[in-house]
Amino acid sequence: MKKANIHQTERSQEKALLVGVNVNNQEEFLTLEDSLAELELLADTAGVEVVGVVTQNLNHPNPKTYIGSGKVEEVKILAGELEADLVIFDNELSPRHQRELEKEFGESIRVIDRTALILDIFAQHAQTSEGSLQVELAQYEYRLPRLTRAWTHLARQAGGGGGRAGGVGGVGLRGPGETQLEVDRRMITRRIAFLKEELEKVRAHRMRYRDRRKKSRIPVIALVGYTNAGKSTLLNRLSDSDVYVADQLFATLDPTTRRVDLPGGQTVLFTDTVGFIQKLPTELVAAFRATLEEITEADVLLHVVDITHQNASAQVDSVLMTLNEIGAGDIPILTAFNKIDLLKDPEGAVSTLEEFANTYPISAKTGEGLEDLLAALETELFESYVEVDVNIPYQEGQLISLFHENGQVQDILSGEEGTRIRGLVPRRLIYRFEPYLEDEDTPEVSEED
Ligand code: GTP
Repeated sequence: MKKANIHQTERSQEKALLVGVNVNNQEEFLTLEDSLAELELLADTAGVEVVGVVTQNLNHPNPKTYIGSGKVEEVKILAGELEADLVIFDNELSPRHQRELEKEFGESIRVIDRTALILDIFAQHAQTSEGSLQVELAQYEYRLPRLTRAWTHLARQAGGGGGRAGGVGGVGLRGPGETQLEVDRRMITRRIAFLKEELEKVRAHRMRYRDRRKKSRIPVIALVGYTNAGKSTLLNRLSDSDVYVADQLFATLDPTTRRVDLPGGQTVLFTDTVGFIQKLPTELVAAFRATLEEITEADVLLHVVDITHQNASAQVDSVLMTLNEIGAGDIPILTAFNKIDLLKDPEGAVSTLEEFANTYPISAKTGEGLEDLLAALETELFESYVEVDVNIPYQEGQLISLFHENGQVQDILSGEEGTRIRGLVPRRLIYRFEPYLEDEDTPEVSEED
């Protein structure tokens, strides 16, 4: 059966034909051309060679085959001529579309869409147990409604470490009256349940680790940005010769966390996060929600933007939207406009950016602009204060010392249950006081108290 994972390409690189459809009246984030260019980059990342591109304009997708019947024929002939193993649709295909298209193209050609391709890339990149489990779960959830034929190699098909979490068990054993397809469905359903349980365990472990990290009080800066913006390059540059924090449970799908000393001598942790991408299907966002939630724990976000990309501004919007979706919209954010070494007129470009707040032109490659960026991060983390009004119980006396040592006390009053303090605390310490924040609606403590 021709069902090799698309990234198992060491022996012979798989060839793909890309198909993109411009559907009328559909508000798209990118033009068809740009979207297909991105799809080609994704295919390339997955180790697939793109041998051709086919496009179509449609009022409505065909309910059966997405593209029209004439186009189906054209793709089939072209795929044959170009010896393509794969047809990759830029648009999201329903299970029915996929089934019908595979029927039309024949056994030797697989049909996948952008979601499946992204899943495959994630499967290649997942290194932690949580990342692998998430990808495997997302892959099975994606495949379950799309099962079209007997498929007995499920355990090997799964991404994320080649089924490292254990085999399915009892593969292929049919119950009375069950077809092979039903057996496969049952197996997948069982595997999904198993993966969910495993994920719960790993998450519980991660939460414990996160709590410990919070206690260590080293501020965390999460690098966020559209895929290919230069986050990893920046992290490498910043942490050159610095210590690698080798705790794989620390963060994300492909987690890298490094300790960096800022110019003022303060130590911070930089953590790289999974690159965002447009048209990330909602099911994938949901699958990686836990991973993305790591971002919500950061003290500051550093948004890296490839300022030389023709769709830079759309990419910025897409990242900010995702940040809002995952509940990270309120975290202080600094923006680094990266790759200025490629600009002919860096000054001109920079002046057009002045409308954005907190932006820093940099080149992760040459190191230009990094000094200013780090100084700004330092200010944000260590010199930025938040006004608070807290009621600290007596058993938490150390918090009062913390307030005095690091903040500015404006008003302090001892009550029966604790000490009420109003004043300013560094933003990075705000989480320590959060449990004791006075509600805005709480009546003021009167002098007589
Ligand atoms: P994902 O892993 O997809 O999220 O990408 P990323 O944001 O981590 O980007 P990465 O650091 O892998 O960089 C993407 C590409 O941009 C690489 O080819 C880098 O060499 C290049 N790049 C990164 N920063 C710069 C820069 O400042 N200048 C130039 N010229 N190229 C850069």
